[in-house]
Amino acid sequence: TIANLKGLKQGQLRLAVITTAKYIIPRLLGPFCQLYPGIDISLQVTNHELILDRMMGNLDDLYIMSQIPDHFDVNFQPFLENPLVVFAPANHPLAKEKNIPIERLGEEPFIMREPGSGTRSAVQGLFEEHGVKVKVKLELGSNEAIKQAIAGGLGISVLSRHTLLTDVAEFSILDVQHFPIKRTWYMVYPAGKQLSIIAHTYYQYLLDAAKKITEQGGLILDHNAVATHL
Ligand code: PGA
Repeated sequence: TIANLKGLKQGQLRLAVITTAKYIIPRLLGPFCQLYPGIDISLQVTNHELILDRMMGNLDDLYIMSQIPDHFDVNFQPFLENPLVVFAPANHPLAKEKNIPIERLGEEPFIMREPGSGTRSAVQGLFEEHGVKVKVKLELGSNEAIKQAIAGGLGISVLSRHTLLTDVAEFSILDVQHFPIKRTWYMVYPAGKQLSIIAHTYYQYLLDAAKKITEQGGLILDHNAVATHL
């Protein structure tokens, strides 16, 4: 039981997560650390390409990502949805429209994540599939910086819905055909690697926490609701 394990677990947990996981994982670490006060944690937050580099260098115990590597053999476990949606400023003219054709996005200045971002490759994949050419006005290496640029009127973008957990009022999510792009967060580690007891404990903890969140209807776009869910 938890009471038995408490106190027995001492040591380090090294996590490396993609940029969108930073909206959830640190919050979920709070209760975990209260359960296991002897565990110290390091958390790296970066994009998919750099996560893959870290994984190949065996730098961390456990990884969170939404695109499973093609050429590297891994164990993976889905735990929460991570849809990509079209973000615009709250007062954008398209905010009131329904079922916007995807080609229409080509007429708006677009803000794109940096090369190496999984968000970028998913967005580019969808646009290619539908022959859509967007005008990339600005390229930025941070979801948060992109949100600020959108709020400042520089353009629109496609980001994980989880990046909108707090400042909902400033943005609208456009109703565009073929969106949301469905994705999932996975817990990942190299195939053949034996998880430490601590990493395994965290793995189970995160699965349980995600199950509870999903049972309660998922993460809700409202600051207070999120706080109570987590
Ligand atoms: P990225 O990944 O930071 O590589 O774009 C984010 C995500 O997949 O949610």
